[in-house]
Amino acid sequence: MTKKVNKIGVLTSGGDSPGMNAAIRAVVRTGIYHGLEVFGISHGYAGMLAGEIEPMESRSVANIIQRGGTILKTARCKEFMTPEGRKAAYANLQKHGIDGLVIIGGDGSFRGAQVFSNEFDIPCIGLPGTIDKDIAGTDFTIGFDTAVNTAVEAIDKIRDTADAHDRLFIIEVMGRDAGYIALHSGIATGAENILIPERKTNVEEIVRSLDEKSKRKKLVNMIIVAEGDDFGGANELSSYINKNLPELETRVCILGHIQRGGSPSCLDRVIASRMGYHAVECLIEGKHNVFVGILNNKMNYTPLNEAVKKKQKINEEWMNIVKILAS
Ligand code: F6P
Repeated sequence: MTKKVNKIGVLTSGGDSPGMNAAIRAVVRTGIYHGLEVFGISHGYAGMLAGEIEPMESRSVANIIQRGGTILKTARCKEFMTPEGRKAAYANLQKHGIDGLVIIGGDGSFRGAQVFSNEFDIPCIGLPGTIDKDIAGTDFTIGFDTAVNTAVEAIDKIRDTADAHDRLFIIEVMGRDAGYIALHSGIATGAENILIPERKTNVEEIVRSLDEKSKRKKLVNMIIVAEGDDFGGANELSSYINKNLPELETRVCILGHIQRGGSPSCLDRVIASRMGYHAVECLIEGKHNVFVGILNNKMNYTPLNEAVKKKQKINEEWMNIVKILAS
């Protein structure tokens, strides 16, 4: 029989994403609703190791649903990757009697949770909190919608100035291993080309297509590059284009961390609230060591050990749409 969970800890880990606060709020309030004691663990796994563990009340999460960042702070923690580190972290949980964990973060954080739950007798539930949307088993990750809308707003502004000067703009968006921000923001802003880590970049083809466009006087172009593209980032691409097409006026804009901040969108608040609620339900019902996702608008539970192996697949049709619409 599954052990009953009485005291749960919640933490945010890895890169922050808008909506993490809404998820924390949902976990805390659902836990309290069910009569559980809820503890906030600050600075992710690093805080678990350092003993940064405090009880949370319903009021601890008042007025945070609309705030970006994470009230629990976040970190990436190398020590937690060692057996000694995890042992020390578990000892700190034991001091408080914590017997269940909710981890809000990306695939790296899930990997930590999976190893931890295997080593110690503690159920872990993951919530996908990452702007990158690079986790299979969910249509949404908490923060992606806000981040991509931030990118779209910025790229629309860049288009105004690109149009005024007849320039080519190369815009770099986040995504070290995943091209979702690039793909969605590129389609939404009418980009000519989208370069993503999941696909090999053909620079000769990009130059050929820009040359052909410039010959028919299509001078305003925008190329969206995910930071993890195999050719390099926006600067590398710009140098290559400048060398091969010096007559084009090219500018680079790297959007960077603005994509991680800001007030979460309605969608991110809603999915974070639903996922946070269901994370606690999972702990209570004994559905352990899974991450909570949403697929086709239904809750979906993926075992953590599967989640760490799979990435979302890029829909090739979308890339074709970009090509056709950019003519
Ligand atoms: O995982 C989210 C993400 O924003 C990636 O897209 C990016 O490569 C990375 O985090 C940057 O991380 P940081 O600057 O926080 O180390």
